[in-house]
Amino acid sequence: MKYFIKTFGCQQNAADSERVEAALAARGMTKAKDYTDADYIVINTCMIRESAENRVYGLVNNLSKLKSAGRQRKPKIIVTGCMTGLAVRDKSGKFLRKIRKAMPVVDEFMPIEETGFDHQPLRQDKENAWIPISNGCNNFCTYCVVPFTRGREVSRPYEDIMTEAKELKAKGYKNITLLGQNVNSYGADLIQHANVILEGAQRPIGSKRCYRFAKSDLASLQHDNNRTMKQWNNVKPVFVKHLGRYRIPTLFPYLLEDVANLGFDKVDFISSNPWDFSDELINVIARNKNITRTIHLPVQSGDTNVLKRMNRWYTRDEYLKLVTNLKFKISNLKLTTDIIVGFCGETEEEFQHTVDLCKKVGFQVAYISQYSPRFGTAATKTMKDDVPHAVKEKRWRILENLVNKPHLKHK
Ligand code: SAH
Ligand code: SF4
Ligand code: F3S
Repeated sequence: MKYFIKTFGCQQNAADSERVEAALAARGMTKAKDYTDADYIVINTCMIRESAENRVYGLVNNLSKLKSAGRQRKPKIIVTGCMTGLAVRDKSGKFLRKIRKAMPVVDEFMPIEETGFDHQPLRQDKENAWIPISNGCNNFCTYCVVPFTRGREVSRPYEDIMTEAKELKAKGYKNITLLGQNVNSYGADLIQHANVILEGAQRPIGSKRCYRFAKSDLASLQHDNNRTMKQWNNVKPVFVKHLGRYRIPTLFPYLLEDVANLGFDKVDFISSNPWDFSDELINVIARNKNITRTIHLPVQSGDTNVLKRMNRWYTRDEYLKLVTNLKFKISNLKLTTDIIVGFCGETEEEFQHTVDLCKKVGFQVAYISQYSPRFGTAATKTMKDDVPHAVKEKRWRILENLVNKPHLKHK
């Protein structure tokens, strides 16, 4: 039996596919050279924008010819990844009905969680490796489908990640990328599960979706953590300070430094959210020369009101302050970013604030997207996708020329 796997979407999907391949190999399958040579075709899907979703429908329906009556060998078609993730989480069943109808040729929708971490990922590359450190997201940016496709944030145990990193080092891997939707909140859930005392002191202020701590709670929390965090090798959580309040306890600065200390040439991490980027994390990067100097720091918009509508937890000024701090403490720093143009209600003036922010920061690269309404998100439910397509296109081009093709700036 032979398998073929096609991966759409981000690095998290690519890393998931390596684990799917390992699970298939463990069942005695070998890799097919293309779709026509396979008995088992796995499509690992993305639906971050409508165009990504449509690419999946296009490919899968194209594969239906492999099941035509005249063909002896009819492959099984399995769809996994973010589209299946949303389908199994959508209680209304609407999304599952939609994709079943759109891709009648699919034999099975397989949630990626079924793959687990039992097998060593089947890595093609012998020098560069991804290590997933968490899955899912708790942030609920209003435009984003990821919290619905991958569910709430679940961190992998600290020791499991360290074991995998040590094995990769022993095998001669040189560059490691730690992966998560929001790497710098890594460990918040581990601490919450490990430590009942935290629950008593947890004080959700204003919003149910995140944990914030009043400053007065902090001393007692840290004291208690000293006792109960032994199982994480006495790692103490870092409380990320945001808008004057302590938000979540995170273990990411420790994890990053522990992995860097294993002696890789380079340790990278994506993605990090501006509002969870603690001073401790900046210090860890600054003092470990093998941690990347190119940091991906998605801004999405340079306008505070747009950021508010997006449910991003920082203002334009806070983002710029963080950038100044990073540049001050980390020499040779380069920044890359993600930007969405044409989000609900984005005015020309608001867009100009993004243009201005790009000029101030001087990003190396920006991944610029035109806003695309997604199934189940708050923006789809409560806001209007009212920026005309032509305007989105124009704004996309302006930023593209400004940041990614500076030589075309004046054209
Ligand atoms: N967790 C990462 C982003 C993952 S999604 C982070 O927060 O940085 C990757 C990028 O896709 C986002 O940063 C955003 O710029 C873009 N994106 C997400 N949802 C989108 C949507 N509905 N329309 C257009 N772009 C979107
Ligand atoms: Fe999570 Fe927001 Fe990133 Fe989407 S864009 S994955 S909601 S942090
Ligand atoms: Fe796409 Fe899922 Fe990644 S929607 S961008 S593959 S997390």
